[in-house]
Amino acid sequence: MPTTVLVGAQWGDEGKGKIIDVLSEDTDVVVRFQGGSNAGHTVIVGDEKYVLHLMPSGILHPGKVCIIGNGVVVNPVALVDEVNELVERGVDFEGRFFVSDRAHVVLPYHGALDSQREALSTGSEKIGTTKRGIGPAYSDKVARVGLRMGDLVSPDFPELLKGRVENANQVLIAMGAEALDYDDICREYSAMADRLRPYVADCVPILIGALKENKNILFEGAQGTMLDIDFGTFPYVTSSNATAGGACTGTGIPPNRIDQVLGVVKAYTTRVGEGPFPTELLDVDGETLAREGHEFGATTGRPRRCGWFDAVVARYAADINGIDQWAITKLDVLDTFERIKIAVAYEVDGERCESIPASVTKLARCKPIYEEMPGWLTRTSEMTSLEQLPQAARNYLDRLCELTGVEMGILSVGAGRRQTLRIKI
Ligand code: GDP
Ligand code: IMO
Ligand code: MG
Repeated sequence: MPTTVLVGAQWGDEGKGKIIDVLSEDTDVVVRFQGGSNAGHTVIVGDEKYVLHLMPSGILHPGKVCIIGNGVVVNPVALVDEVNELVERGVDFEGRFFVSDRAHVVLPYHGALDSQREALSTGSEKIGTTKRGIGPAYSDKVARVGLRMGDLVSPDFPELLKGRVENANQVLIAMGAEALDYDDICREYSAMADRLRPYVADCVPILIGALKENKNILFEGAQGTMLDIDFGTFPYVTSSNATAGGACTGTGIPPNRIDQVLGVVKAYTTRVGEGPFPTELLDVDGETLAREGHEFGATTGRPRRCGWFDAVVARYAADINGIDQWAITKLDVLDTFERIKIAVAYEVDGERCESIPASVTKLARCKPIYEEMPGWLTRTSEMTSLEQLPQAARNYLDRLCELTGVEMGILSVGAGRRQTLRIKI
């Protein structure tokens, strides 16, 4: 498998973790390039469930190199928790796991600012963040006042931290929140630095070295296209570029060394948090999707909003990511529906609209124009080839590909590794 960027094509939780885990088998290096512990990537191995927030989803495959790239914002406490949990569960990654010394650090005041902003926001101001401090950490990076992993593990850390905690405390107090204690943070984070120091490295030579040796590299996107800071439903987005371009800036891989882009889509749509969602279902069909799909956030446990497949969103994602193939997940969740709808366009202000408007208020007024297809009313989760699928299911998948202009490379019919049909990849 050549150099592949994998991205979510909807609002996150498309099943990226599962697909990365499956593809890791044929990969040498797996790299996270953006986001932070707001991500929750679920990997099921036999009866064991792993929810990875910062660790690349290739970590469960022995021998695969896993990298947290410079574009990620790293909460050291969350990472140490994950490292320790994996070690306890018998996963050995010594010598094959690296964190970029250029990755920015999420500090306690980022989480506090995130939570306080959300608490003070009313109505349309509320974003429904994961409260993991992601927005404030990226804000500090762009404002050039953030600290990086290289700083965390350096002897200068206590000094670098001091003025930053003081500044953050002024803002927190002005916002009506409690000030944080510098000594507590310094003590806790210095301990985290000691635990993480062996893994912190300049990851550029590792990655470029792997490229030169023609190794297979898989770039693991977090969140999804509609949560991208530039192309998503701004301001109801996350604070990083979750689209394919983020793989370059978030790791140092040159654009001309990316061979292919794989988009992950659910066979329907979900969203967590606030913001417009044209195909959202607030009826019994939405409840069925949530129940059959176990649609609860892997990071916050919040119920996910559910709706029909939105081909306008998927087409847009295909365009801006350059998606070569789809990995379509959770087809099995549709097994019990007699009729299934697909949004093929929107109607807004009396006109037909086939693209995603930049204005979030306009998107909120978009009404989906649906096409309806018969369901298959057959259990698909044990099926291992396309030929075994009922004709109605194949017709549905064909229609998704036709409407989006992208072929299907992988089909997933269950959370397990074996419930994966590798069609073209
Ligand atoms: P990610 O954030 O994109 O990695 O996705 P999440 O892990 O947050 O959410 C996807 C959920 O669906 C997880 O619980 C997966 O175990 C599960 N899952 C993935 N693929 C399939 C599938 O094809 N069918 C079913 N039923 N579940 C799946
Ligand atoms: P994975 O990688 C789904 C959403 C939050 C909120 C918005 C901003 O598992 O697909 P943030 O905490 O990032 O500032 O929140 O983005 N969000 C996700 N939704 N899956 C995710 O990650 C998400 N990460 C953030 O719910 O609406
Ligand atoms: Mg998730």
